[in-house]
Amino acid sequence: MEQQKEMVKPKTMDELIQGLYRIYSSKDIDVKEVQDLMESYDSNPQDWKQYAKFDPYRYTRNLVDKGNGKFNLIVLCWGEGHGSSIHDHTNSHCFMKMLQGQLKETLFDWPDDKSEGSMVQRSERILLENTVAYINDSMGLHRVENVSHTEGSVSLHLYSPPFDLCQTFDQRTGHKNTVKMTFTSEFGQKIKSPSTASQENN
Ligand code: SIN
Repeated sequence: MEQQKEMVKPKTMDELIQGLYRIYSSKDIDVKEVQDLMESYDSNPQDWKQYAKFDPYRYTRNLVDKGNGKFNLIVLCWGEGHGSSIHDHTNSHCFMKMLQGQLKETLFDWPDDKSEGSMVQRSERILLENTVAYINDSMGLHRVENVSHTEGSVSLHLYSPPFDLCQTFDQRTGHKNTVKMTFTSEFGQKIKSPSTASQENN
């Protein structure tokens, strides 16, 4: 019989990170366990405001923790109207917890390599504060956007294993590009001259 794992509700983001280290110390990772743990943390801006560096022109990626090489934990700050390209997740798991505001997630099918044309949009949903979305490449591709005209959004992403290259897709043609994903800040400190910090809307 499978043993019931006991989950301790994290009171702070540091406790959430400790819980993630505990889960990732094991060889077999239960996606639902990671999702439940992240969802059980009630976002408190005092915990993460040191990582939340907004940019007027594009969403930013701010590294919080390298998870012993097993995962990257990143705070993403989305100004009004900022969004990602349609992208894949380089065979990694992607968990996305809303820390503040809302984001729209649009799912797409992988384009057919043989035929050119507009990509097929499968669904869209609004992610509300404290909820956790999950995606991997077998589920398709997604675009993430802050569609608000008045409020910024902040999300906490866990990528496992970590990656710094991904593929972006042109919605009209399905053509893809490989892009490097960089950080605006690491451990709360701004990086001196970040190149393109994110794969913003195309
Ligand atoms: C995402 O994968 O949902 C956000 C894109 C990013 O990490 O830059």
